[in-house]
Amino acid sequence: MFIPKLSRRLGVCILRELSRAKSTPMRAGYVQRPYSQYLQPLTGTNIFRGAIFQKHYHFSTTTTDNASKEGSEGKEKISVTFVDKDGEEKHIKVPIGMSMLEAAHENDIELEGACEGSLACSTCHVIVMDMEQYNKLEDPTDEENDMLDLAFGLTETSRLGCQVIAKPELDGIRLAIPRATRNFAVDGFVPKPH
Ligand code: FES
Repeated sequence: MFIPKLSRRLGVCILRELSRAKSTPMRAGYVQRPYSQYLQPLTGTNIFRGAIFQKHYHFSTTTTDNASKEGSEGKEKISVTFVDKDGEEKHIKVPIGMSMLEAAHENDIELEGACEGSLACSTCHVIVMDMEQYNKLEDPTDEENDMLDLAFGLTETSRLGCQVIAKPELDGIRLAIPRATRNFAVDGFVPKPH
């Protein structure tokens, strides 16, 4: 008969699968738990159990957290291009919150910064090459403007590198380093060609 034959075959299949499951070794870190446990509503105890489940089954949320952290870390740096006096470009990644002066120094880019960002010189003078990017910067303070007035080769889009802080909107900014700097505080207004 067709039906008994079919059920016998089905029975053999089930038995084979059961014996295979029994002989398959558990993977390291796995813990066998009754299914009923996972069907229970999420009470406080079960949330705790869920944590154990995650631990043993490697369904840790850490992976997801790390991924988003990595993702956000990727976004925590912006691309900046420095163009030196010879027109040579250097592309670097700058962490959000870092000044362009610090970034330049970290990447061996020749940008002086004689007063180390204390707004007492104009040797960190940079020219923002794109007006659109320039407009995204915070307005310069009076102190910065005072120092900029002393900068060699001042332009409409001049800023002090120590005052330009990396932020997401500035991604892709291009900064030209002027051919010369003037350091009123240190060398008394003598233009200093590179
Ligand atoms: Fe002196 Fe920027 S390093 S003002």
